[in-house]
Amino acid sequence: MTRSLLITGIGELVTNAPDGFAALDRAALVIEDGMIAWTGPAAWAPAADAAVDVAGRAVLPGFVDSHAHLVFAGDRSAEFAARMAGRPYQAGGIRFTVAATRAATDAELRSGLRGLAAEMLRQGTTTFECKSGYGLTVADEARSVALAAEVTTEVTYLGAHVVPAEFAERPGDYLDLVRGPMLAACAPHCRWADVFCERGAFGADEARAVLTAAMARGLRPRIHASQLGPGPGIRLAVELGAASADHCTFLTDADVAALASSETVATLLPGAEFSTRQPYPDARRLLDAGATVALATDCNPGTSYTTSMPFCIALAVRDMRMTTQEAVWSATAGGARALRRADVGCLAPGARADLVVLDAPSHAHLAYRPGVPLISDVYKSGESVKINLSCALDSGK
Ligand code: NIG
Ligand code: FE
Repeated sequence: MTRSLLITGIGELVTNAPDGFAALDRAALVIEDGMIAWTGPAAWAPAADAAVDVAGRAVLPGFVDSHAHLVFAGDRSAEFAARMAGRPYQAGGIRFTVAATRAATDAELRSGLRGLAAEMLRQGTTTFECKSGYGLTVADEARSVALAAEVTTEVTYLGAHVVPAEFAERPGDYLDLVRGPMLAACAPHCRWADVFCERGAFGADEARAVLTAAMARGLRPRIHASQLGPGPGIRLAVELGAASADHCTFLTDADVAALASSETVATLLPGAEFSTRQPYPDARRLLDAGATVALATDCNPGTSYTTSMPFCIALAVRDMRMTTQEAVWSATAGGARALRRADVGCLAPGARADLVVLDAPSHAHLAYRPGVPLISDVYKSGESVKINLSCALDSGK
């Protein structure tokens, strides 16, 4: 028998539309078979097998974190502390994590990965992408993507993260490995391929070579582009029809125009700028030009060790001048667009019943109350994961 659940008493229901934020006040929704079956004014709600009254709280689509590096071992807090004391970020720090990741057992990597995935869920993230890129041998990249596939369908092959130390004198050989045997070993577990296209990592021709080889195996491209300085990555992303160009911190006018006239999403990762003290990306310039913008955490041990989409929303609103509505759309529907997913990031009949109940009356509180654990419950495919429910019920709202 199908059991339906009515969630009513919703102060603000963020539903999202394909082209922007949309919300209903005093709303309700019905979940059936893990999917949204109905949304509308609470006064018109149909009967259901069970009901939950959220007493005026806001309900949003679960966050879609479209950029994360979660398979790694080792601690780089000393590097962070040195950076805060004035040392600049350099892509070479990745090699420290590579050494620790290679030395870790599968069980250690799995436990770190699952811990971060649980941390994400507690903060309202119901869909996330996960990259490899800290193994950089055939065996270590293959186990990274296999472990990632245990926790998400959005797995990304990032063998082209940086040239590992043992190939420093012969980067061409590493490129052959990445687009040859390493890709072959990883592709069965992956939906996506990514390249760190940046000075100190991979140039445009190398990135194109890796991504076209991956595309020939059915993977879809996405690119780390223009994080540390202007470069060719954005135009390459658009040329290849990448789902997303990520970072977009240093953009030329031609980059902005290329993104605005393409289907490639500009994914902004303000946690990285926060943790590297770089300037934030110019979200307004992208939005005003008509580009589609997503927000994601970039969770990784080097430049952005946060799993918190609410934190990224707060940064985007405070420091990147996105409106609260734009930031919430970009962290939900924008992330879904960056992963080419139509079933998440919105709350409309037919969407997956992935949602967040905020211990607050509106989405704006995510930026208005930074650093406060406002997630009172999360539903994933219609099932409550019961975050902090007893605290929420005791709060007297
Ligand atoms: O997205 N840019 C490349 N990769 C990560 C940084 C990785 C690291 O420093 O370990 C990023 O910022
Ligand atoms: Fe990244």
